[in-house]
Amino acid sequence: MRILSGIQPSGALHIGNYFGMMRPAIELQERGEAYYFIANYHSMTSLFDAEERRNNSLDVALDFLACGLDPDRAVFWKQSDVPEVTELTWLLSTITPMGFLNRCHSYKDKTAKLADGDEEKVNHGLFAYPVLMAADILIFDSNIVPVGRDQKQHLEVTRDIAIKFNNLYGETFVVPEPEIRDSVAVVPGTDGNKMSKSYGNTIEIFGPQKPLKKKIMSIQMDSRGVDEAKPDAEENHAIQLLKLMAPATEAQETEDKLRAGGFGYGDLKKTLFEYYWNYFEEARKKRDELANNLDYVSEVLNKGADRAREVATKVLDRAKNAAGLN
Ligand code: ADP
Ligand code: TRP
Repeated sequence: MRILSGIQPSGALHIGNYFGMMRPAIELQERGEAYYFIANYHSMTSLFDAEERRNNSLDVALDFLACGLDPDRAVFWKQSDVPEVTELTWLLSTITPMGFLNRCHSYKDKTAKLADGDEEKVNHGLFAYPVLMAADILIFDSNIVPVGRDQKQHLEVTRDIAIKFNNLYGETFVVPEPEIRDSVAVVPGTDGNKMSKSYGNTIEIFGPQKPLKKKIMSIQMDSRGVDEAKPDAEENHAIQLLKLMAPATEAQETEDKLRAGGFGYGDLKKTLFEYYWNYFEEARKKRDELANNLDYVSEVLNKGADRAREVATKVLDRAKNAAGLN
């Protein structure tokens, strides 16, 4: 079984990325051949600063390795080191009806949020984004793709493209399945909406303690006082975050205290901060070690690219044969 996923180097990774995508991906490396990459081509559709892309790509590599991606088990590389995906993207583009792309929420949301004068940022790459993503997935004969819920529609487009190509040119691609964990499908941010870089409501996995504590202490709550009972404690987003990082019994106790009254939001956030900080303690140490050993990190990515490229070349060749190019 082959498992594949990618993550864009578009900013510091947050705990939504961690619980929604990275942790499932790391757990899955025990269950099959894991292929994970840094989607730097995709980041070009919305990030236009070369230095930032370079720095972010290194940060994602450090973050993912620190969190437990094991280069002895998983193949890990930078997307642009396997340029075969861009060739496959062209083959797939020619059989992708415009309608498949017109219906994608992610494109529609991004264009709807643009400020006046930013219309030029709506580039062709942003529209064609799901086709490149389909190529990423199909070029590795991937069976399972662990992602957060926001990527579900892109996976549906990938499946539709694979089926269409197979019907037209004969069985060529494996049709992949998404793996979306319900419990962490949408991790809430500090304002209670989906945690996302683009909403400015993130809690990063790594960084200096003070500003991270400040972020957690700034989680928005309603105006009920300490003594008031909070019968809806289960829906509180700090409680939902706590459940991801504290042992189940302790998270439940905190929820019960909040429900009963006499336990305020300040105490809740302090508790959340303690569990959050401890949860990533080991990863933080590992990240510091890796940051002092960047040669090792580039070696991992170079070896990963070589291994990934071997598979990609074969599948691209298969697709070119099927389409009558070879
Ligand atoms: P962002 O929304 O911050 O830009 P990305 O779109 O780069 O995040 O997401 C990278 C991966 O992390 C994807 O698989 C996505 O589904 C997952 N992910 C991002 N935010 C969340 C969240 N709040 N809850 C669950 N998964 C998430
Ligand atoms: N679009 C994904 C995201 O923003 C990143 C991505 C690119 C990806 N190619 C992929 C994820 C292939 C899974 C498989 O999160």
